[in-house]
Amino acid sequence: RQAVGMDQGSSYDADIDRVIVSEEQIRDKTVELAKQVAEDYRRVDGVLLVGVLKGAVMFMADFARAMGRNGRSVEMEFMAVSSYGQRSTSSGVVRILKDLDRDIAGRHVIVVEDIVDSGLTLSWLLKYLASRSAASVEVVALLRKPDAIKVNIPVKYVGFDIPNEFVVGYGLDFAERYRELPYVGVLKPSVYARA
Ligand code: XMP
Ligand code: MG
Repeated sequence: RQAVGMDQGSSYDADIDRVIVSEEQIRDKTVELAKQVAEDYRRVDGVLLVGVLKGAVMFMADFARAMGRNGRSVEMEFMAVSSYGQRSTSSGVVRILKDLDRDIAGRHVIVVEDIVDSGLTLSWLLKYLASRSAASVEVVALLRKPDAIKVNIPVKYVGFDIPNEFVVGYGLDFAERYRELPYVGVLKPSVYARA
């Protein structure tokens, strides 16, 4: 893929080996998921979306707007968490970098995640939100890697099951880069070689 109108070869597109989920697929799936969630929550007051920074930022923004278009108002909160130790092997020990700004007791929470990999982060997060006395907690994740799952967690809404490969784009980064790509893809091996 070659970007149009970029100068100095600075386009991220040139670093992408393969597109895994296209911009159009993401758009269609987000609308589909929002329709389903809006339907499932039609009798529920005050749905609270909890976006997990930074990866879920794009999906959170698009999903929330899609909910709104379905006549389903939401409130938004954000958390930032990080796994202790090596990122390559998620340990399940999680540190809160940014906590919720308010009490969620009695609220119907939907965690908005970019990707479920081992599931360890989400597993911890679900326990944490339950301990804060949410009335209900469900998860909507744009991506899931079925072959990487280590803990069985109930993810009610999933956009795409993808191969067990490291992906970037649409919020997902490699060394804080590539988040702004409108699609999800795999990097060329040469990118890692020069990192
Ligand atoms: P776990 O293993 O706990 O992982 O389910 C959760 C978090 O790890 C990040 N992650 C990725 N980030 N490309 C990324 O840029 C990937 O392929 C990838 N897999 C996991 C992500 O933040 C996720 O929420
Ligand atoms: Mg994340």
